[in-house]
Amino acid sequence: MSVPTTLLPCGAAVPVLGQGTWYMGEDRRRRAAEVAALRLGLDLGLTLIDTAEMYADGGAEEVVGEAIAGRRDGVFLVSKVLPHNASRRGTVAACERSLRRLGTDRIDLYLLHWRGGTPFAETVEAFEALMRDGKIGSWGVSNLDPADMEELADTPGGDGVQTNQVLYNLTRRGIEYDLLPLCRQRGVPVMAYSPVEQGRLLHHPALRRVADRLGATPARVALAWVLRGGVIAIPKASAPEHVRDNRAALDVRLDDAALAELDRAFPPPTRPRPLEML
Ligand SMILES: NC(=O)c1ccc[n+]([C@@H]2O[C@H](COP(=O)([O-])OP(=O)(O)OC[C@H]3O[C@@H](n4cnc5c(N)ncnc54)[C@H](OP(=O)(O)O)[C@@H]3O)[C@@H](O)[C@H]2O)c1
Repeated sequence: MSVPTTLLPCGAAVPVLGQGTWYMGEDRRRRAAEVAALRLGLDLGLTLIDTAEMYADGGAEEVVGEAIAGRRDGVFLVSKVLPHNASRRGTVAACERSLRRLGTDRIDLYLLHWRGGTPFAETVEAFEALMRDGKIGSWGVSNLDPADMEELADTPGGDGVQTNQVLYNLTRRGIEYDLLPLCRQRGVPVMAYSPVEQGRLLHHPALRRVADRLGATPARVALAWVLRGGVIAIPKASAPEHVRDNRAALDVRLDDAALAELDRAFPPPTRPRPLEML
């Protein structure tokens, strides 16, 4: 089965399951394995790669650069600018540094990593200039709560936002109350980071029970659950068996009994909660 895609507002079709890179590029001894894991993921159709200038101080972007060398056109590349670089000039300079590390002339989707002190209008202006210059294909945001999203919508050019990348998994369901419905209503796809809670979720007894009954693994079930409502998931895996396991999440069908058991173990929110971040 090919990996299903979802359409961003700009019309780009992106795979619903991608690959994260946080903590890659921190140790040279692991570099070859990390590059190999990303390439395996690309071979399996996980062609959206998420990285950031923050990760390993640019080291993760260098790992990605090596992984996509010679196959750039088959990749949808996402990177992020740090809030303290997100001024009109700082954003452009940060993007150019990222492009050098990534060994490419274009980032497909460039995100504001989280909200800092720079007004949205300034960062959006920089994103638009980068688009005009062909250095980025589109832009988006990360870690914005509903009030931030409303403010962005009222910012000139703010309707160009392509995604809000936020923390979402079975143990972090707060966005279901307000942010997820708001983004759906506005047509802004949500991208879930830390979809297996950095591995901590995978030992939960209820998740294991559901996985056993479905003949799947806890990670497959956790990812299938994130994907169930049209959310994009970007698990990070540097072990090849994890990459294959994550790809297999696309074959899992969660039945009503599984969803009900997961709801009992990980209850949905009943009131607004502050947006959580990692
Ligand atoms: N925008 C933001 O503020 C933000 C914040 C956090 C993360 N992110 C992005 O989202 C990506 C994913 O989040 P994350 O890295 O924090 O956490 P994650 O994807 O939930 O978990 C990654 C951890 O889970 C392990 N793992 C992955 N697949 C597994 C499987 N099938 N079975 C068992 N263990 C498995 C990985 O091990 P191995 O590596 O050993 O395979 C790694 O230790 C990041 O890498 C980053 O690109 C963005």
